[in-house]
Amino acid sequence: MASHAADARSQHTGVLSSGSTDATRAIGRRLGTAAQPGSLLALSGPLGAGKTQVAKGVAEGLGVTTVVNSPTFVLMNEHPGRLRLFHIDAYRLDDPEEAIAAGLIDDRQAAGVTVVEWADRLDGYLPADRLEMELVPDGEASERRTLLWRATGPNAAHLSEALEA
Ligand SMILES: Nc1ncnc2c1ncn2[C@@H]1O[C@H](COP(=O)(O)OP(=O)(O)OP(=O)(O)O)[C@@H](O)[C@H]1O
Ligand SMILES: [Mg+2]
Repeated sequence: MASHAADARSQHTGVLSSGSTDATRAIGRRLGTAAQPGSLLALSGPLGAGKTQVAKGVAEGLGVTTVVNSPTFVLMNEHPGRLRLFHIDAYRLDDPEEAIAAGLIDDRQAAGVTVVEWADRLDGYLPADRLEMELVPDGEASERRTLLWRATGPNAAHLSEALEA
C-alpha cells in the first residue's frame, strides 16, 4: 500500500515545518535553485507570516545580489540573477483586473521567475502553472510556520520535487 508521502509526491503537494526565519529562507533558496524559466510561486498567508523571507530565499537561490524587500510603492520589483526575478506584492492591490491590464503579469515573466505575495488577491488572474504555497503561523508567540504547497502544472511540479528531495 502506498504511503501518504508517496501519495503527496504523485499529487505534487507537500508540507514542511519551519522553526526559524533562516529555515524559511532556506526553503525559498531551494526553490530559487530549482527554478526554471516561467517558474511562478504564489504565496499566501497573513501579515508577518514570512512570505518576504521566502522571496529573499528564492533570490539567494537565483544568485540575486540586489536587496529584496516587499515592493511597497510599486507592485513589482525586478532583480537580475541566473534568471530574472519578478517580485510582486498584491497586498495593496485595489483592482486586480486593472493591475493585470496595466501589465502586472507580463510576457517577460515567462523567461524569468515570479514570486507573488498575497497571491490570493490575484485569484483567477495568475498563469495556470504555479506553485501555490500557504504559510500558516503557529501562533502569536511562536516562530513556527507550517508551509503547505500544491503544484498546478509541470513547471511547478519541478519546484515541488525540489522541496521533496
Ligand atoms: N519561521 C519563520 N519564518 C519566517 N519568518 C519568521 C519565522 N519566525 C519568525 N519570523 C519573522 O517573521 C517576520 C516575517 O516577515 P515577512 O516580511 O517575511 O512576512 P510577510 O508574510 O512577507 O508579511 P507581509 O504580509 O507584511 O508582506 C520576519 O520578521 C521574520 O524574521
Ligand atoms: Mg511581505
